[in-house]
Amino acid sequence: MLIKRPADIPPSEITPLQTWRARRRFLQQASAFAVGAGALAAPLPLRAQTREKLAGVRPSPFSIKEPQNTYEQITSYVNFYEFGTDKADPLRNSKAFKTRPWTVAVEGEVKKPRTFGIEDLLKLAPIEERIYRLRCVEAWSMVVPWAGYSLSELIKQVEPTGNAKFVEFHTLLDPQQMPGQKAAVLQWPYVEGLRLDEAMHPLTLLGLGLYGELLPNPNGAPVRLVVPWKYGFKSGKSIVRIRFVERMPTTAWVRSAPHEYGFYSNVNPKVDHPRWTQARERRIGEFFKRETLMFNGYAEQVASLYDGLDLRKFY
Ligand code: MTE
Repeated sequence: MLIKRPADIPPSEITPLQTWRARRRFLQQASAFAVGAGALAAPLPLRAQTREKLAGVRPSPFSIKEPQNTYEQITSYVNFYEFGTDKADPLRNSKAFKTRPWTVAVEGEVKKPRTFGIEDLLKLAPIEERIYRLRCVEAWSMVVPWAGYSLSELIKQVEPTGNAKFVEFHTLLDPQQMPGQKAAVLQWPYVEGLRLDEAMHPLTLLGLGLYGELLPNPNGAPVRLVVPWKYGFKSGKSIVRIRFVERMPTTAWVRSAPHEYGFYSNVNPKVDHPRWTQARERRIGEFFKRETLMFNGYAEQVASLYDGLDLRKFY
């Protein structure tokens, strides 16, 4: 996000899903052949993450009715700095990322601290498809069919104390698996945060899937946050720790550039980034820019959370 780059990939460079699937089948067959032919001579090629369907995903009244970006666009045009700063790096560099076993420690100002295994999280509440707008702070956007349930379902299990005012979300720290963490682009691990009432809002999603399948690695497998009315960087990926605290957390982006990134980071077309306008955005796959909507189009649901707050000061 600190790195200056062209706004997005031209649509002509985006491979249609069928072509991508055919190419992927070819690569799988080719790598199977390579294993058979050269197993003793060469190290095994990295295996692509296997895709797995999520059972019983229900539709959600929170879903929007706009054309969705393709699976290929969503997995290949990505920010996940733990796997590199180029948009295509996460897909390339996360193929061998291990997401089993996986646990999420929920701790801090709670009456019932608990460590959840990923299998517990997949069963904790009915999984819904949530088709949400995603607005990146870099002024591009997508429409993504996430799968998961409201984070409030998890929060209810641990019973926050009266001191819990904010929630921190910590991404895995593992430079061996996440080569981007060997570079000092950010202070690792990636930490994001929400106010407790934002975390409890039903739109705030504990993301476990995409397009009806388990989350792909570039998009934050096996468990991430999705906060659709905030810039994309608030939605931390590959979460291992959720911590309830009394004071506003210093998040990774606020620590790295406080004059550019604030704690709230609500999508707001009236408050520009110091280096570019936030009034418009380019939907990936479209040519013309569109107007950015207040709270990314979710004002009706969330504006009341900020009654009386100066959104220019608390950006
Ligand atoms: N989470 C971690 N751990 N590391 C990151 O670099 N990038 C953020 C967010 N979550 C990021 C992250 C940014 S800037 C965006 S726009 C979204 O992830 C993009 O990924 P998505 O399309 O899968 O939501």
